Amino acid sequence: MEALKGRDFLSVVDLRANELLDLLQLAEQLKQKKVHLRCNKVLGLLFFKASTRTRVSFTVAMYQLGGQVIDLNSNVTQVSRGEPVPDTARVLDRYLDVLAIRTFEQQQLETFASYAKIPIINALTDLEHPCQILADLLTVQECFGSLSGLTLTYLGDGNNVAHSLMLGCALVGMNVRIATPPAYLPQAGVVEQAKAIAGGKSQVLVTDDPAIAVQGSHVIYTDVWASMGQEDSADQRIPIFQPYQVNEELVNQADPEAIVLHCLPAHRDEEITDGVMEGARSKIWEQAENRMHAQKALLVSLLGAD
Ligand code: CP
Ligand code: NVA
Repeated sequence: MEALKGRDFLSVVDLRANELLDLLQLAEQLKQKKVHLRCNKVLGLLFFKASTRTRVSFTVAMYQLGGQVIDLNSNVTQVSRGEPVPDTARVLDRYLDVLAIRTFEQQQLETFASYAKIPIINALTDLEHPCQILADLLTVQECFGSLSGLTLTYLGDGNNVAHSLMLGCALVGMNVRIATPPAYLPQAGVVEQAKAIAGGKSQVLVTDDPAIAVQGSHVIYTDVWASMGQEDSADQRIPIFQPYQVNEELVNQADPEAIVLHCLPAHRDEEITDGVMEGARSKIWEQAENRMHAQKALLVSLLGAD
């Protein structure tokens, strides 16, 4: 994976299709312990939002590679007291080998990347969650053997996860259907970007009809109806999003072999029923585990092995 060395990972589209597929293959080999790679480097985690999976999976991945991690909760760094991002970025660049950032605006992440020479990783912004999608596609590939030609349906808010899924599915030749209430569509620019990537090879569909979206689909995916930073509107969203809940009735309209994914954390009996989460089609726990394997492959690709 020399091709990725030194690069940033700010968006799914920072990878070409073959690079994404190679990364998934490396992740699977690392998971199966078919390859043993070392990377004695230092990862910083600068998070402006809460995290369980991303923080812990990055930390364990780096430890298992023989590296170190510094947890830079934004509250205990000077950036929370107004130190400019260009200054923080140029200083952290001189200490760390790689920096994963979870923040609100994609623009802030891009400013970090433009001032720091080390690889910058998007650990979630309001626009995208590309690390999540690496684990999601790894999980789908494990379940179905390949990706191209499969159909993934995302139901709920047209948010960061929806955006990265659209781009990731388009890159690997999967059909992607996004079903959202009309006022909660994914960003038009991202939809156009995904359609351009898909070309004529796969379908990118955005609809407000959950039943149409789910027909014959191989992967049913949902996420919270109110993301971090949108807590104030959480209650008013519930009745609007109710028709998009992933429940047994909806899942039964999908392909008989369909799997169910959720990036977590979940609000049981809001966007997904407890029965579906705990049911036979759920691959949610495998998906969560795969965060670690996928990010280990990403780290070693961006940094190079020892
Ligand atoms: N899915 C995900 O990114 O989880 P965390 O917010 O716990 O990191
Ligand atoms: N869309 C969610 C994903 C959490 C992993 C959020 O941004 O809060």
